[in-house]
Amino acid sequence: MSGRRQHWDTIFAKSEDDSRLGWYERNSDQILGYLDRLDLAIPSTIFIAGAGTSMLPGDLLLRGHRLIISDVSELALNTLERRIGPNSRATWINTDLARPLTAALPPLDLWIDRAVLHFLVEDADRRQYFSTLQEAVRPGGYVLLAQFSKEAAAKCAGLPVHRYSEEEMSDNLGADYMLMEHEIFHYTTPSGAPRPYLYALFERQCSP
Ligand SMILES: C[S@@+](CC[C@H](N)C(=O)[O-])C[C@H]1O[C@@H](n2cnc3c(N)ncnc32)[C@H](O)[C@@H]1O
Repeated sequence: MSGRRQHWDTIFAKSEDDSRLGWYERNSDQILGYLDRLDLAIPSTIFIAGAGTSMLPGDLLLRGHRLIISDVSELALNTLERRIGPNSRATWINTDLARPLTAALPPLDLWIDRAVLHFLVEDADRRQYFSTLQEAVRPGGYVLLAQFSKEAAAKCAGLPVHRYSEEEMSDNLGADYMLMEHEIFHYTTPSGAPRPYLYALFERQCSP
């Protein structure tokens, strides 16, 4: 088992109560607000990077979307799958996004990542992550990234993080991806610590 898998499995094994996790959100309103503005077709095909045990996949399934739910932690995926129950619109992938995917992805309408990319601190890992994303999102599709902003803490979950500006996200995504909107969202951890996240929404341009 890789160090990354082991690290996250250990965290999820210890957390009987999700509401103690430093990234816990009682609801998905912040992300759902972006989706409302996009007015996505139903069903759309949405990839969730590092879903953890968040409420988002359940909420998106309730809205009728088709999901590919990924995480490096098999334990987190199993917990989430038990909570959500069988659903023919959900595909589960246990994968490390710093490595090439072994399964082929369908063309994606939207890629959502809250608090996963910022754990990739090595250039090669980030390059692989963005290469997977760039291949998978269809022209006209969207990318929503929510990562620690430049002002946020230097560590999360015991790991160093790479903090982002919207310019750096744009540079990594490349010229095909246009920044549509961005904001700093002031999240507070369950223990009361401030964690400013940069939310940035991009659209992949259609070729002329
Ligand atoms: C801070 S949690 C965020 C979970 C969820 N996105 C949320 O907002 O509640 C980070 C999640 O990313 C997963 N993760 C970390 N590194 C990963 C990687 N390289 N590939 C895939 N998932 C990863 C962890 O297992 C964990 O579930």
